[in-house]
Amino acid sequence: MRRILSDNRRTDLTHENLTIVNHPLVQHKLTLMREQTTPTPVFRQLLREISMLLAYEVTRELALTSRRIETPLMEMDAPSLAGKKLALISILRAGNGLLDGVLELVPSARVGFVGLYRDEEKLRPVEYYFKVPGKLRDRLVILVDPMLATGHSAAAAVARVKEAGANNLRFMCLVAAPEGVRVMNRIHPDVQITTAALDIRLNEIGYILPGLGDAGDRMFGTM
Ligand code: URA
Repeated sequence: MRRILSDNRRTDLTHENLTIVNHPLVQHKLTLMREQTTPTPVFRQLLREISMLLAYEVTRELALTSRRIETPLMEMDAPSLAGKKLALISILRAGNGLLDGVLELVPSARVGFVGLYRDEEKLRPVEYYFKVPGKLRDRLVILVDPMLATGHSAAAAVARVKEAGANNLRFMCLVAAPEGVRVMNRIHPDVQITTAALDIRLNEIGYILPGLGDAGDRMFGTM
């Protein structure tokens, strides 16, 4: 992974296919989430807040058109989002925690879900649920999952969404492992990843270090 830091006034660090949003609010909230003493309701609220801030970055390049409006004082041509509504695809179950915040920012987005579990014998992700909005070809598609760990289920989910017609995709997560970023970059070099942190590595059972533990368990209180 090459680090491109051409302008040290930039607030985001950009690797080849990876944007690390290092805005102070994002970093502060992530630290609170990492702490093992943070209770479930606080964890969920922080996730919602961070996801809005990450969504701001992921949607930065949405196309604009203009439309004629009337302010109380005069008419003007005002900027307005162009094209089809964007599609948010949550990778179950932890993706739902990120989804809520993004939907708050972009309430008109269409929403889909991909459910995968890992077949421990074949060591491959197996799909158990798939429901996505129509006309994916014409939409910006943002897949959300808080933890990009091995990258195998993320890559499988992206492949499945591409099969359904998507060709303009982003992947948004909270914490990424270098292993997962490498897998995604190799299999889906066209997919830009946005994260709040690039952590050190995976442990022997696939958890991100230092990470924040099991994101799904922490947001739903199933520890
Ligand atoms: N999934 C999680 O929830 N946490 C990790 O550290 C890795 C995968």
